[in-house]
Parts: sequence; structure tokens; C-alpha cells
Amino acid sequence: MEQMTKPTRKPKPRRLLNDDEWAQFWRHGGITTFERRGNPNYDGEIREFWERQFATLLEGARIVDLATGNGAVALLAAEYSATQGKQFRIDALDRAAIRPDKDLKDAEAAQEWLASVRFLGGAPNERTGLESESCDLVTSQYGFEYGNPAASAREAMRILKPGGRIALITHHANSVVVREAREGLEQHLLCLRQEQLLTKARRVIDAVESAESEFEKRMLRYDARAENLRRKLNAAVDRVQQQAKRFSDPGNGIGFVLNGLQGVFSPGLQAEQRRAMVRQLSEASDAYCRRMEDLLAATPDTGEFDRLVDHLRSAGLVVEGWFPLVYRGEALMGWAVAGHRPREEEAEAME
Ligand SMILES: C[S@@+](CC[C@H](N)C(=O)[O-])C[C@H]1O[C@@H](n2cnc3c(N)ncnc32)[C@H](O)[C@@H]1O
Repeated sequence: MEQMTKPTRKPKPRRLLNDDEWAQFWRHGGITTFERRGNPNYDGEIREFWERQFATLLEGARIVDLATGNGAVALLAAEYSATQGKQFRIDALDRAAIRPDKDLKDAEAAQEWLASVRFLGGAPNERTGLESESCDLVTSQYGFEYGNPAASAREAMRILKPGGRIALITHHANSVVVREAREGLEQHLLCLRQEQLLTKARRVIDAVESAESEFEKRMLRYDARAENLRRKLNAAVDRVQQQAKRFSDPGNGIGFVLNGLQGVFSPGLQAEQRRAMVRQLSEASDAYCRRMEDLLAATPDTGEFDRLVDHLRSAGLVVEGWFPLVYRGEALMGWAVAGHRPREEEAEAME
């Protein structure tokens, strides 16, 4: 495999999601962390990469997908197995309490394959609980770089049969995924922290709450305090809209918050309903920010990616190569890495 230029070093926030937060996230029912309509799984070059790995396996082979989430890669394997008559045995593990059988109810595309995957929550990459030398292929997409890659590499080595394969897709510091995460995070922080839009909205709601009759509501226009709060909110919204121009996808955070605010101030609602909507908006925005910080913290920079590869080698695995995985011919999605556990003769020759 070709080896190409590595990403540049970047400062990174260090707030990782805990297992409950991940479990909560997967309850939303997406197959992957990318929100797309109809919950489609990975496609294009990503799917092709995985199918190339599955194609190396014999009938009845055992695949273990680590940090599986709602099972994206495991479900691709199940589909491949069914369509190619391969009878793979597929285990999909995650440290969080995942339950795709319940959560993926509406994802028609995945339903067909769910039953042929064994999902195991509470199973960290570093300590899977699986028998030694029992697997033919270990996979993980956006998963191996979470947790402790050195310990995960040793665990992969332990559970792989001699000659068994390992294939990973990890985050890449220059990928569109990471760029969107940075941008989205920046937009949410601009709206909520810098411009305090939701705090300002709450103040307006409180100030106008006392007006009940139509007459009182009209009189609010002449209430200097309420008018002042409204003006401050509108000025902040204007500033945010000005800033929107510098982002490649302003819908990614600014659009989300401003649309939400429009809903909050739609006519005919009670103050309590408006407050509840602001609360929901604030919680959704916080959850998004935590998830993006988690992604940025997990993304390996140049040195960390080199170390990840070194960890695989130190564990005794042969790393065949890695390359930047480009989707739809233009979008960098991550690093693809492939290797195997050497058979005895190969291991001896390496010593
Ligand atoms: C970005 S998601 C990727 C999920 C899935 N592989 C995919 O491509 O959609 C990262 C997943 O890693 C899991 N995770 C984080 N640290 C882990 C660890 N040390 N061991 C196992 N799973 C872990 C999280 O619970 C989460 O489900």
C-alpha cells in the first residue's frame, strides 16, 4: 500500500465522552455517527475498502469489529457474507452499552443483517473477553484511536489467529470529518458562549411573560427594558449572521441555533413552552459540542498516528501499509491501515 504525507500537528481539546454518553448517542438510532437521512451505512470508497478486507476471508471466517457503535462495519460484513454466501461469524463489540437490535428499528437497510451479528456492549478494545487466536479479521472504524491503542493492539494480536488480518480506518487530522467538527464546534461556541444567544433569548422570554392581554403585549413595545433586551438579542443574531459567511457550512451550527430560536419565538406559545424549547436547544448544542470535542481529542496528529502504527508493530503485528482514504474521489475521510498476525514461519523470519 502507498504511504503518503502525514497530517500537520494541531492543538486539541481533551474532553472524551464517557460510556453512558456514547450509549445515549447510539439510542438516536443512526448506523454511523454521520447524520444522513434514512440511516444509510458507509458507502463509496469506505465500503469498498471494507469489502476488499472481507474478500480475503474463507467461508465461515470470524470477524470482530471493535468500537462498533451501532454496528456500521459489522453490518457491512453481514451484508457481504449474505450476498456472497460466506457464512461469516460476526462479533461487534463496544465499551458502551450498545443495543442496535432495539435502536436501529427504523433503519430498514440494516434490519436484514442485524440478526446475523452478535453485539456485545461493555467490551473494550483493550480487553475484549474473546478467546485467544479465535478471529480471522479484526476491524474498527473510528474506534481504535479511542481508548488505549497500545493495549488494543496487544489485544488484537492475542485474539487473531496466526495469519489473521487486521484492518482499521482511523480519523485523520486533515479530513473533512475533522474540519467539519472544528467548524461545527466553533459555530456552536460562537452562538452560545460568545454571543450568548440562548441566555439573551431567556431574558426576553422572562421580560415579556407578564404581558397577558393583547393590549399589554402591544404596550411592551414601549417598555424600555423589554425593548432593550430584544434589541440586544437581535444585534447578537445579526453579528452571528455576519460571521456565518466565513464558514463553509453555516447550517452546521449557526443554522441549527438560529432555526431553533425562530421556533422559540413563533407566535402563540406560552412562556413555559418557549423556555422548554430553549432548554432543549441548549442541551442539543451541548451534546453536539461534547461529541465534536471527543472526536477532535481522539484524532491522531502526525506523531500519534506514527505511534499507533508502532503500537501495532510492537504488539507483533505486520503492518502492510496505510493510505489516506478519499471518499467520492475528493473528501479525505481518514487513514486506512491494514496488516496481519504473522504465521509462525513468518514470525521466525522476522526475528
Ligand atoms: C466514533 S464512534 C465509531 C463507531 C463505529 N465504529 C462507526 O464507525 O460508526 C466511536 C465508538 O468507540 C467506542 N469506544 C470508545 N472508546 C472505546 C474503547 N476503549 N473500547 C471500545 N469502544 C470504545 C464508543 O463507545 C463509540 O461507540
